[in-house]
Amino acid sequence: MSALYDTIGVDYANLRRPDLRIAAQLHAALGDAQSVLNVGAGAGSYEPIDRDVTALEPSAEMIAQRPSGSAPAVQGSAEDLPFADKSFDAAMAVLTIHHWSDQAKGLAEMRRVARGPVVLLTFDPAFRGAWQMEYWPQLVTLDEDQMPPLDFYERHLGPVDIETVPVPHDCSDGFLYAYWRRPEAYLDPRIRKGSSSFWKLVGVEAGLEQLAADLRSGDWARENAALLDAEVRDMGYRLVIAR
Ligand SMILES: C[S@@+](CC[C@H](N)C(=O)[O-])C[C@H]1O[C@@H](n2cnc3c(N)ncnc32)[C@H](O)[C@@H]1O
Repeated sequence: MSALYDTIGVDYANLRRPDLRIAAQLHAALGDAQSVLNVGAGAGSYEPIDRDVTALEPSAEMIAQRPSGSAPAVQGSAEDLPFADKSFDAAMAVLTIHHWSDQAKGLAEMRRVARGPVVLLTFDPAFRGAWQMEYWPQLVTLDEDQMPPLDFYERHLGPVDIETVPVPHDCSDGFLYAYWRRPEAYLDPRIRKGSSSFWKLVGVEAGLEQLAADLRSGDWARENAALLDAEVRDMGYRLVIAR
């Protein structure tokens, strides 16, 4: 089971509160599905409360953080879903595929157990529009190494629709590029702990020092002036929907 999230999952539920605007986009993609499997469910973010949800999650630490009253959780992995074929109306997976040991197998498993839509929230590793990549160029390689390219989904799920998931400037879910208009957040070690990428990056300090210096000098604000009034931004997050 996932030892990584038994370590980094501590305090996860506080740092990664689901954003309601992103939730609305995701729930629309589930259509009228009543029974929904949430793969890599973690603490339960983005689980619809008006449908019959089953959560699948490998990490005991994450399962322990599920609020009381949330959907029942089964401990297990995407690569080997302990459910019969076509058991659910839909299956969803939010910011988890980059952790799977066999992504093709996990997608095939989601397709197998869902009668209807398979919906994944993920990141496009070809995306280069994040200023954070200038401070931590290692992020580009990390994303390329762990995130499937977008054409991977069609190969393993059949035809897919891919939607951009705009990130609000005050996004409540602290995933890696969520703080695009709140650069100071990256200087806070507690906030960095909410993103698995910062646990994996080697040599974070140089970028932190540069960002702190650029915030003090005003260079960050000058370089990123276009962001300061923006409400939402494409930060590379995508909704993949196989109907
Ligand atoms: C970034 S968290 C996302 C959790 C939740 N979906 C959310 O949006 O908050 C990634 C989750 O994937 C889980 N995970 C890791 N390996 C997995 C696997 N092979 N199959 C299913 N889930 C996995 C982790 O334990 C963790 O809970």
